[in-house]
Amino acid sequence: MSETENTTVAAQSSSTNRRQPFPRGFLDTISQGWADRPETLPVARAQAPYAARRRDAVSRAFPGRRLVVPAGGLRQRSNDTDYPFRAHSAFSHLTGWGADSEPDSMLVFEPTADGHDVTLYFRERADRTTTEFYGDASIGEFWIGPRPALAGVAADLGVATAHIDGFAATDDDLVVGADDELTRFVSELRLVKDEYELDQLRQAIAITAQGFDDIVRELPAIIAHPRGERVVESVFHRRARTDGNWEGYDTIAASGPHACYLHWTRNDGAVVPGDLMLVDAGVELESLYTADITRTIPVSGRFTEVQRKVYETVREAADAAFAVVRPGIRFREVHEAAMAVIARRTAEWGLLPVTAEEALDADTGGQHRRYMVHGTSHHLGLDVHDCAQARREMYYDGVIEPGMVFTIEPGLYFQIDDLTVPEEYRGIGVRIEDDVLVTEDGVENLSAAIPRTADEVEAWIARLKPGQ
Ligand code: GLY
Ligand code: MN
Ligand code: MN
Repeated sequence: MSETENTTVAAQSSSTNRRQPFPRGFLDTISQGWADRPETLPVARAQAPYAARRRDAVSRAFPGRRLVVPAGGLRQRSNDTDYPFRAHSAFSHLTGWGADSEPDSMLVFEPTADGHDVTLYFRERADRTTTEFYGDASIGEFWIGPRPALAGVAADLGVATAHIDGFAATDDDLVVGADDELTRFVSELRLVKDEYELDQLRQAIAITAQGFDDIVRELPAIIAHPRGERVVESVFHRRARTDGNWEGYDTIAASGPHACYLHWTRNDGAVVPGDLMLVDAGVELESLYTADITRTIPVSGRFTEVQRKVYETVREAADAAFAVVRPGIRFREVHEAAMAVIARRTAEWGLLPVTAEEALDADTGGQHRRYMVHGTSHHLGLDVHDCAQARREMYYDGVIEPGMVFTIEPGLYFQIDDLTVPEEYRGIGVRIEDDVLVTEDGVENLSAAIPRTADEVEAWIARLKPGQ
């Protein structure tokens, strides 16, 4: 088919009930009159050498096998509206391509005699003689702006590139997301972070800290709005979008009894002085590394006696978890240290039908977990719950090593209708979540700059909230 026929047919088929067909004069002229694009190639991005080392590790682990790491594709939200594209974390880890990844790309490891040839296949931008350029609203450059070329991405990421049309799957491929062994391997490869990743996580946490400051500063507007939780969400979103790429997960803005719903993301409630407000939020950078931080603050600026008692108990549990972290312990010991405090205090307060020792029995206990049903820690990185496909013996039962980054996030949640607790506790939910790095001899709290003790939190609000 000639170019003219091709153009005409495609132009007709792309006509819709709300779009004018393209007339001949448009089709005859649209491909002409464009300046040449600059041919300068970018220098490789900072992540490129790290991604190359990760690819080497994958190659060594699967000699002779053809491996495919898909980026994933766009997902429809409704009609012709898609969710924002976000590449699979394994794909980003192994390519170094973050928020600017192209949907439907494939990273392919082709086996050779002594390793693999690695090629990144993606849909290169079409040139301006194609209907894609002006007629395709989802990928055409006329609609969505400049898209990458093969040579530019090859230089940027330091990897060979080819057009996606040259990619063909084979029956023998091992595919991330479909093959368990490969999926596990690339997940476990992220358990220990490299220098680049640590730098990104520190940056994500620093911007997140600013987002929390923003929220405290905006407390009067948050209190004034009938859906103050949405104001919290949007204040944080502004920081995430302006200084990062997005949030790493949906912000939890949970005031009063909502704080007891562990993943409250409806965020449609009022923020009322006298209540506590739990905010769990994290900025994701363009590289897709994310923070995951929770602070629980008294909306009025001062904790009540019972709020402070619950808050400081959660902090005691967090401090107990911090105290045990060092290389050589098992990951689950972090959780166990926090839960011992939760069991002891809830027993002391008369909330448990058994003693703390009985509650901590692995087989017959667990009564205290009614008030903290979630885990204390999870790995953090490209995904908020990073390394999720790692084997249990590498994760929950695994041994902690320097370079691992995870959360410490105990909580206590007394639901508004929980008849097992005295009335004064009901509707109080507290979580304190920090992001930590395992060092050679202990732990560094990467989010230490965000106020954490009850006194620090009160001083923080006093310092930032206007009119205090
Ligand atoms: N933000 C979800 C979590 O803390 O795991
Ligand atoms: Mn978390
Ligand atoms: Mn969190």
